[in-house]
Amino acid sequence: MNTTNDQEVAQIVRHFSVPGVFVSKKKNEKGNVNDTIVVELSNENSIKRYTLQRINHQVFKNPRDLMDNYSRVTRHIQSKGSQETLTLIPSKNGDLFHLDHNGNYWRMMPYIEGVHCFDVPPDTNYAYQAAKAFGRFQVALSDLKGNPLIPTIQNFHNTSMYYSEYEKTRELDLVNRLKEVGDLQEFILKRKSLCSIIPVDQLPVRIVHNDTKLNNVLLDEKTGEGVSVIDLDTVMPGCALHDFGDLVRTTCNSVDEEEIDLTKVKFLTDYFESIVRGYLDATHEMLTGAEIDGLASAPLVITYELGIRFLTDYLKGDQYFKITHPTQNLERAKVQFKLLESMEKSREFMNEVISVEWKVRSDRKSSVRT
Ligand SMILES: Nc1ncnc2c1ncn2[C@@H]1O[C@H](COP(=O)(O)OP(=O)(O)O)[C@@H](O)[C@H]1O
Ligand SMILES: [Mg+2]
Repeated sequence: MNTTNDQEVAQIVRHFSVPGVFVSKKKNEKGNVNDTIVVELSNENSIKRYTLQRINHQVFKNPRDLMDNYSRVTRHIQSKGSQETLTLIPSKNGDLFHLDHNGNYWRMMPYIEGVHCFDVPPDTNYAYQAAKAFGRFQVALSDLKGNPLIPTIQNFHNTSMYYSEYEKTRELDLVNRLKEVGDLQEFILKRKSLCSIIPVDQLPVRIVHNDTKLNNVLLDEKTGEGVSVIDLDTVMPGCALHDFGDLVRTTCNSVDEEEIDLTKVKFLTDYFESIVRGYLDATHEMLTGAEIDGLASAPLVITYELGIRFLTDYLKGDQYFKITHPTQNLERAKVQFKLLESMEKSREFMNEVISVEWKVRSDRKSSVRT
């Protein structure tokens, strides 16, 4: 990031309507899209922390639209009073962001204290709580009135589009890497039906988060309960199942995305069970039968999609995902495909869990009514 020193950060903070004097700053290393800085300000003998973020405008081409979405989403959740959310601090001009002289867009929010933010859940209860928090987030936004939110990235989870892009790239083989790919081509072709297994056009268009990694939800340090869903850049109209699928993909993997030893990659069924419970506890009144029918496929689709995206980027010569060594995107693709294989072996179990957990909640609902 090009704005790192204390004076520059202090200078940016001065553009926001926030009391206090700059004390210190520290980069937060968790996010991999925006630059996130935790800033301390001193005011009347107390020190308060804030999150200052520089929006990555290479990824998000229209930060103004993005911030408009951000503000509508956070205000709507606040208006319900039932869950915490981020609070945007306006700039002194009354904007939702500060645009600096280098063309960078900055936003500022109070730092939420007393929370955990995990990359990997320490136990299944955290997975349950995270799933419930993302589910509650979808439910809270299900009655947002007015114009639809603006898509901040087009075709974000269009699996068929990623597949076509992969095919085109494979045919061109511009950097001569296809020979390294081995039997992955056959693996992908055999599973092409995953591109259309979720009938997205027939499912409700909802406001969804679209980046449901575990480190995008803050959990209470004491109780483990979800406090706030964060990282709202990709909140836009979409399909609820993609949020569920991506949470399963990122949380139910025995290793992280960078693992080299493929024998270690396993789908964690107990974590899956917890996520289904948490997600359905929050959303069972909202989801339609068609959505429930698609739920078990969603993790496979999302895992397949990301595997294809890593592989395509490898075949293009690494244009999108950051790498530290030349075969990294190929290795990342292999991890996703291995996870997908492991999910396939648990497919019946996944169906069963969803159907049992759904039934429990439907029965409870009807017994309350009668
Ligand atoms: N308001 C906040 N309170 C506490 N922690 C935060 C807050 N905002 C961001 N963080 C921390 O910063 C990290 C990166 O922020 P995030 O908005 O997710 O950026 P990115 O889009 O780069 O992933 C989060 O994973 C979380 O650990
Ligand atoms: Mg994040």
